[in-house]
Amino acid sequence: MKVNKKSNPEPVNAYKILKIRKGQIIMTDIISFSPSPSIFGFGSIKQLPEVLASNNYKKLLIFTDTQIAKSGILQIVLDLLEGSIEYEIFSAVPPEPHSSDMDKQKDRLGSGYDALLSLGGGSVMDFAKAMSIIMTHEGSLGDYLGEGLVPGPVVPIVCVPTTSGTGSQSTQTTVFTIEGVKRGVSSEYIRPVFSVVDPELTIELPPMVTRNSGYDALMHACESFMARPSSQVPDRPIRYQGSNPFSRALALEAFSHIWRSYKPAIYEGKNREARIGMSIGAHMAGMAFSHSGLGLVHALASSLGGMVDAPHGICLAACTRIGLQYNFEYCEKGFAVLDGIIADIEEISSQPSGKRFLDRLQQLINDVAMPSRPSELGIGKGDAEKLMENTLVQTRRIQTNPRPLDDGLLNYIKEGI
Ligand SMILES: [Fe+2]
Repeated sequence: MKVNKKSNPEPVNAYKILKIRKGQIIMTDIISFSPSPSIFGFGSIKQLPEVLASNNYKKLLIFTDTQIAKSGILQIVLDLLEGSIEYEIFSAVPPEPHSSDMDKQKDRLGSGYDALLSLGGGSVMDFAKAMSIIMTHEGSLGDYLGEGLVPGPVVPIVCVPTTSGTGSQSTQTTVFTIEGVKRGVSSEYIRPVFSVVDPELTIELPPMVTRNSGYDALMHACESFMARPSSQVPDRPIRYQGSNPFSRALALEAFSHIWRSYKPAIYEGKNREARIGMSIGAHMAGMAFSHSGLGLVHALASSLGGMVDAPHGICLAACTRIGLQYNFEYCEKGFAVLDGIIADIEEISSQPSGKRFLDRLQQLINDVAMPSRPSELGIGKGDAEKLMENTLVQTRRIQTNPRPLDDGLLNYIKEGI
């Protein structure tokens, strides 16, 4: 329940954000803040058996993919679990899964598991969350599409992420493609019960995976920080409740870690400091946006992701210009706050500005050779209406976008393609 609702969303006001930092604002919203417990640090994976035992789990179903199985990471985990817990393994999780990939496994996997252990990146975590729903409740995934439609508790999910990007170990959403559009199921019932986040597991990640997943984390921090204030977001059955003091603090700290570590992690994969920075940044950004929600860049990228065969991070890069320019007048001062963090990291003394933040982001996209327009992924101006139409169904993201969506968005899409 919230009070003091305003019917007309207003621009995010960076001055108010600074006042909050000084403790001068009286908070009038009721905010729910309940992140999943986690263990973080180099070598923390060794604590996995102990944490599983403390939850009294006796039988696990482990989800992973062929890459993780080949990399040796699966074997590391199995060696740790040997003799302490019974387990079965499903190692065929596909990248960017479709709802049918999960639905067809519903009756093939066994039963009687105390928990599902996800060992992998975003796709593996999304797969495990989706399976937890249909292994517990009747029907197929499509029955639960949207927010708050999972009817009750599911088999508990434990996450061991092996990338620094999605932050799914912290969130209450699973994302998959259904009928050609990336959609999600969001429910507090599918928030993982705990995660073990060990940056050492990311050391061998290839540069392209580091780049694509890392950009996702960067956008989580950015869009979470700029999300519509919670006082202007209607009550929802999940905690995408708009920007609030908890989420903003996490998003700003996450943004700082990620900006500092992103390029070193891509180009010097064994740089431990950079891997730690990316892991903690992605984890904090997941905690932030799972309590605030995201915005238009994610809505557009989800739409684009259903139209082209490209990773989520690539789609985000291609949609960044359109999404942030559409939001610019609502976010200029907030963008300047983020530009100030960059200036601090890069020791630049000039006055921070919102415009310069957008320029820096485009420069970063160019530097790491990601697409900066949907046309670079094969989308033409004739696809603008479809891109818009598939964006409008992303209500999870649109409800927390700083600027309400109007017909003017189509022009931004046409120009940005
Ligand atoms: Fe994302």
